Amino acid sequence: MRIAVTGQAGQVVTSLVERGALTGHEVIAIGRLQLDLADPVSVMRALKVAAPDVIVSAAAYTAVDKAESERDLAHAVNGKGAGAVAQAARALGVPLVHVSTDYVFDGMADRPYGEGDPTGPTGVYGASKLAGEQAVLATHGENSAIVRVAWVYSPFGANFVKTMLRLAGDRDEVSVVADQIGNPTSALEIADGILRIATNLLADSSPALRGVFHMTARGEASWADFAEAIFAASAARGGPSASVRRIGTADYPTPATRPANSRLDCGRIARVHGIALPEWHRSLDTVIARLIAGVN
Ligand SMILES: NC(=O)c1ccc[n+]([C@@H]2O[C@H](COP(=O)([O-])OP(=O)(O)OC[C@H]3O[C@@H](n4cnc5c(N)ncnc54)[C@H](OP(=O)(O)O)[C@@H]3O)[C@@H](O)[C@H]2O)c1
Repeated sequence: MRIAVTGQAGQVVTSLVERGALTGHEVIAIGRLQLDLADPVSVMRALKVAAPDVIVSAAAYTAVDKAESERDLAHAVNGKGAGAVAQAARALGVPLVHVSTDYVFDGMADRPYGEGDPTGPTGVYGASKLAGEQAVLATHGENSAIVRVAWVYSPFGANFVKTMLRLAGDRDEVSVVADQIGNPTSALEIADGILRIATNLLADSSPALRGVFHMTARGEASWADFAEAIFAASAARGGPSASVRRIGTADYPTPATRPANSRLDCGRIARVHGIALPEWHRSLDTVIARLIAGVN
């Protein structure tokens, strides 16, 4: 399978390149110089040149707080840009796997969100990603799978795990929010899931395989729980560790409001695509081991 993926250095993109190589798929990562999501002409041109069997839309404007003051850019990239990728997939007649986010929800529910639950983003980033989902569905919905992921970390790029390990390198205690819960998910596992979805879409044109799906690791945590697990796994491997001071969201104000409950119900993707990502502690240990060994 020849897969074109938007982006080059992002967590999910890099993971897809790695996992694709391990499973015998050709993954072409298209960086911003060739494909700028804010420039629809470049999107169509680059994807036509790549001539893929399937397209994965993984690049995005991901600066959640900065988006509050860069609304137009966030919407151009995550909304219109996602639509441009879908237009290219439509023009090429190939399936599209589009990566989206838990931030499309307001986080007020007291249970994991299902795909059919009402959306209600609380910030610009979530609103722009929701606009992207809508653009994909309107443009190429008949041959797209939208995959909402959450709390992504990996050996690559910038993420919470790397931040915690860096902070533990120069302090004994780290304050971490304990009243937001979600499903920490390794981009390496997300890449495996995307490869499986892409394979399924190519093999079977059934509408049941298309639409919106939730895909996160099994098990949940608060950010503070996640930090404690990171330090425990790191300490067990001789890496940096710190104690966690559990604080409330109110004690850590940010420009963008985060959902208090980010948990996603992944029942549909298990039933339809046969995908159940592993429990998050296991995947975390794999990533920590690589980070401590310095193998990225
Ligand atoms: N990270 C999370 O916790 C999280 C949670 C839920 C959903 N998601 C979604 O998962 C997907 C992958 O996230 P990630 O964590 O892998 O993101 P990431 O590490 O922040 O990488 C984002 C990628 O998008 C590229 N990009 C940004 N603006 C672009 C533009 N205008 N044109 C082309 N490429 C552009 C970046 O390129 P440069 O390297 O050139 O900047 C980078 O390769 C995104 O759709 C994101 O919305 C992420």
